[in-house]
Amino acid sequence: MEEPTLQQQLEKMRLDWDERARENARYYVNTASETWSDEEFFASGERTVAEEILTDMTNICQGKEPGQMKVLEIGCGAGRVTRALAGLFGEVHAVDVSGEMVSQARKAVEGFPRAFVYQNNGKDLDVIPAREFDFAFSTIVFQHIPSKEIIENYVREVGRLLRPGALFKFQVQGDATMETRPDDTWLGVPFSEREAVEMAHRCGFEPRYRHGAGGQYFWLWFFKR
Ligand SMILES: C[S@@+](CC[C@H](N)C(=O)[O-])C[C@H]1O[C@@H](n2cnc3c(N)ncnc32)[C@H](O)[C@@H]1O
Repeated sequence: MEEPTLQQQLEKMRLDWDERARENARYYVNTASETWSDEEFFASGERTVAEEILTDMTNICQGKEPGQMKVLEIGCGAGRVTRALAGLFGEVHAVDVSGEMVSQARKAVEGFPRAFVYQNNGKDLDVIPAREFDFAFSTIVFQHIPSKEIIENYVREVGRLLRPGALFKFQVQGDATMETRPDDTWLGVPFSEREAVEMAHRCGFEPRYRHGAGGQYFWLWFFKR
C-alpha cells in the first residue's frame, strides 16, 4: 500500500473524527462511558484539570494569577477540558480538527465569554488570533495522531505563540509496542524519551520533565526558551 500524503492524513483525521463525533462524541472523547450525562462529562473534565493542572500550578502559572493568564488547548474534542480551563484561567483558545467536535465544544463553553473554539486544519495554529500565551495544554490528542511530522509541527506552532519561559504540558503515546499505521487515526505514533527530547530541542523548548515513558500516558513538560 502507498503511504498517504500529509494532506490525505489530515483529511482522514477530519473525516474520521467528524464521524466519531456524529456517532457518539463524548464516548470517543472519553471511552469510560457510552452514555455520559452533561454533569458527568463535565465533571470528568474538571477531574483532568484537578489531576494535571491544579497539582502543577507552580510550573504552569509561574507566579501569575490564573485569571490573568491566556491559555491554549490543542484538540479540545467536545469541550469537557476546555470548559474546566475556562473556569480557571482568564482566556482560553482551543482548536480541533473536527467541525462536529468544535460545534459541541462551543456549546460546552456557552456562558464563558473568554473561551474561544476554532476548527483548524489538523496541523497548525493559524486560526488563533495573534497573542502571547502563558500556558498550553493537550491531553489524549497526540496519542491519536499517526504522524510525527504533524505532532512536531504543533509543538513548533505552540512555541510560536507562547511567551518565553511558558510551559507546554502535553501527553503523547509512549508505548512503542503498539502497531500503528499512517492511515489509522485512532492509534497515534509512539515517542521514545530520546525522540521527545530531540523534538523539544529542534522546536525551541527545554524538555524539563517527563513522566510515564513507555506507556500510553507519556507526559512532557516543555518550557519555551
Ligand atoms: C479523545 S479526544 C480528546 C478531546 C479532549 N482533549 C479531552 O480530553 O476531552 C481527541 C480529539 O483530538 C482531535 N484531533 C485528532 N487529531 C487532531 C489534529 N491533528 N489536530 C487537532 N485535533 C485533533 C479529535 O478531533 C478529538 O476531538
